[in-house]
Amino acid sequence: MEYLQLDKVINAQALRSVEAGDEAHEEMLFIITHQVYELWFKQIIHELHAIMDDFDDGKVDERNIGRSVSRLNRIIKIQGLLIEQIEVMETMTALDFLEFRSYLFPASGFQSVQFRQMEVLLGLEREGRVKYFDADYDTVFDSPTQKKIRKWEAGNSLFSLVEDWLERTPFLNWKDFDFISEYEKSVSSMFEREKQEILATDILSEKSKAARLENLKHSESYFLKVLSKEEHQKQQEAGEIRLSYDATIAALLINLYRDEPILWQPFNLLRRLIEVDQLFTTWRNRHAQMVMRMLGNKMGTGGSSGHKYLKKTADEHHVFRDLYHIVTLLVPRNCLPVLPEELKKSLGFYFSAH
Ligand code: HEM
Repeated sequence: MEYLQLDKVINAQALRSVEAGDEAHEEMLFIITHQVYELWFKQIIHELHAIMDDFDDGKVDERNIGRSVSRLNRIIKIQGLLIEQIEVMETMTALDFLEFRSYLFPASGFQSVQFRQMEVLLGLEREGRVKYFDADYDTVFDSPTQKKIRKWEAGNSLFSLVEDWLERTPFLNWKDFDFISEYEKSVSSMFEREKQEILATDILSEKSKAARLENLKHSESYFLKVLSKEEHQKQQEAGEIRLSYDATIAALLINLYRDEPILWQPFNLLRRLIEVDQLFTTWRNRHAQMVMRMLGNKMGTGGSSGHKYLKKTADEHHVFRDLYHIVTLLVPRNCLPVLPEELKKSLGFYFSAH
């Protein structure tokens, strides 16, 4: 058998317009673009499985984190291509598209099983999805495919595995060092310093000083609120956040102490996850924009409101949004709690720790 099986790939374009005896030149572009997407989706799924395997045995070998970071990086590069490719699709005009659009019905992007698989593997939940005409997203599929999707949903996702891994971070309570209470102290002294600076300055009027102090009070109470377990739980119950309290605090610690050698790769991993999430959003937005150009406000062949539906998914279909919010909690390096010497040694490389 030919290794690359190019005969199959190259002969897999059956133009409906040709079948109907009325060839539409642009239909070839439409089919090939979709096929190229699906091949890249397959590669992304392949990488996701490998990353998830590394996180799946209840204990992540730290040596594998670098490997997962590289794999996420590859996914990010592929996503760049997926976004760029929309420009090729856009060389087709709306009128050209209309020449064969009726042949597509009822096929649509909703039928991409691999797109759904990527979403589910990353951790997009059924309950959080935008609905179209009150239908669940998998109703377009036949029953064996729906079963497969349910099985993926019932299994682990990258989100759940990363959350478990973060929860196991060993440095939150290190002997007498309690990260959260030390961090709270640092945050309070940072705000106190800023308060004193505002009070001492001659540049601001009394009115703007008062306004700034009021703002500062809000920021401080935000910080303290986020660090509270009870508040976190309330926000989780209200569906405002998803990542568990322990995982959030661990992600905060990793972000704050990223310069410590052992935390550098975990930090890179978190950063890459945010990037993957963002690039999916960028793709969703670009695709929605393209759909606006091709269809205006027409409905999609899959039965959704088209552009409006797609725009909403771009706004709402995030998986790692909680990791972005960590940034709000960062304080300058010079305000960080000083780590106990022994802990600092444990976070360093063996040789550099001497
Ligand atoms: C002329 C080009 C295209 C048009 C006009 C178009 C239009 C649409 C529309 C209207 C929808 C909403 C579903 C519906 O009601 O039909 C949709 C969904 C989708 N399309 Fe496209 N599309 C185009 C190209 C592509 C390409 C090249 C891909 C690559 C795989 C793609 C992937 C998807 C996916 C995955 C969805 C589901 C999105 C979701 O539910 O979040 N589309 N498309």
